[in-house]
Formats: sequence, C-alpha cells, structure tokens
Amino acid sequence: MPRTASTKSVLMCRPEHFTVSYRINPWMHPEEPTDTSLAVRQWDVLHETYLDLGFDVHLIDPIEGLPDMVYAANGGMVIDGIAYGASFTYPQRQPEGPAYMEWFRTAGFDVREPQNVNEGEGDFLLVGDVILAGTGFRSASNSHAEIAEIYGREVLTLELVNPSFYHLDTAIAVLDDSNIAYLPSAFNDEGLAALRSRFPDAILATEEDAAVLGLNSFSDGYNIVIASRAKDFERQLIERGYNPIGVDLSELLLGGGGVKCCTLELRR
Ligand code: ARG
Repeated sequence: MPRTASTKSVLMCRPEHFTVSYRINPWMHPEEPTDTSLAVRQWDVLHETYLDLGFDVHLIDPIEGLPDMVYAANGGMVIDGIAYGASFTYPQRQPEGPAYMEWFRTAGFDVREPQNVNEGEGDFLLVGDVILAGTGFRSASNSHAEIAEIYGREVLTLELVNPSFYHLDTAIAVLDDSNIAYLPSAFNDEGLAALRSRFPDAILATEEDAAVLGLNSFSDGYNIVIASRAKDFERQLIERGYNPIGVDLSELLLGGGGVKCCTLELRR
C-alpha cells in the first residue's frame, strides 16, 4: 500500500527549563535527578528530524518555572486556523494555558478561551474528520462537547483506565487520515468496542512498546517519528508500508512524555 507524506506545521518548546519537580503522573519521580542539558540535546534531535522532513517548525519561548512546557501538545488544539486553548488539570501547569494562547494570538490564529478543563492535543486526536477525545485522568468530558461545537466535527469520547496512559496520545498513535495504532488495555470496554469497530485494521501495540511511550509518535502519513526503543511498533509500521524514524527522548520520558507530547500540530 503506497503511503503519502504531507508537509506538517508544528509548534515545539525547547526544554531549557525541564526538570521533574512535582508528580502529576506515575512516570514522574521528583526525588530522582534529571539532566536538563541531555533533555535539550535529545529534543534538538527531534527538532532536526522534523526540519529534515521538511516540516514548518515554530518555537514558543520556554518559561522558567514551567518545566512541563516542553510538552507542547498539551498547549491547545488547532484545526481550521482555530486554536482552542488548554485549561490544565493541575495547578502546576495552569500558567501554560495563557502562555500558549498568547503565542496562538500573535501567530494569527482565532483563539477560543476554553470553558472546560482540557489538555489540548494530549487528549484530542484528529483522524480524518473525526476527533478522538480522551477523558478519565485529565481532560473533562464536557470539553468534548465544547470542541464538537467549535470545530463542527464528530467527537468520539474514549475513557482511559490506566494511570500510566493518562493522556490519549500515550495510548493512541494517529498514522494517517484513516488509521491508528493503540494499546487495547488502556481503554474501558465501551471505548475498546468503538475502536475495534471503527478501526478494524489498526495496529495493536504491545505492553512493552507502550511502556516506553512508543505510541506517543508523530506521523506525516508516511514518515512516523517514534521512540527508538519501540521495536515491535517499528516492525509493524514497516510491514504496513510506513517509514518509522526512531528518536531517543529518554530524559523527557522521566516527565511522562515522548515524541507526540513535544509536538503540537498547527492546522490552518
Ligand atoms: N509531565 C507532563 C504531565 O503530566 C507530561 C505531559 C505529557 N504530554 C502528553 N501530551 N502526553 O502533564
């Protein structure tokens, strides 16, 4: 099956102030050391990879005291030039919402202030014309109704059940406009039934690959940037005609994030 790449426009935030100073997900251990310069070097490789793929990469200035700001996917959701802002679950990350909305405004997007708690593309994934929307740990389900209204698209609510896979983008990878990869055990029965019927050809990820946040990847329809340690996922992608490109973000994994978390797609 021939695959076609499309040029992506993304927003990223260099992890100059990255550390783990609080614990809001099971991956985070503030008592253990982190290496900010290693985080930056690893992130630079991801940034270079996107530039080599011809992506249009935008950068938001990191803010001291907001160590999780590197996870740009949580900064909002952008479709049709409309930027729906984030409203974070935990107080430690709340100032990131306005910071990202300010960036969207300056970049000329139509910014919508959120009425409900949501963590942007961490929990909202566009697949073709449908928005898959996660809830259970972070984004509140009333934000799903809000985005359905704003974007005039169908929104499929999926409930997450495993605290290690607290954002939808840790449990689902969007491969292209019609297919996904996912970790079955991250969903409740209802969500799993919905995923099975809508995406019968989906790639099912192994627990091993999910445990290195292997699903937290970013695709242009052909090239898929993934965690280099996600070997079975890599194999399955090659089998299906995609081109996986492995990167190592081990330092950012200490905060509970990977490739996709560091990437916010800007759709005009
Ligand atoms: N430490 C961050 C948090 O718990 C990690 C966010 C990861 N982002 C993502 N899109 N999954 O909020």
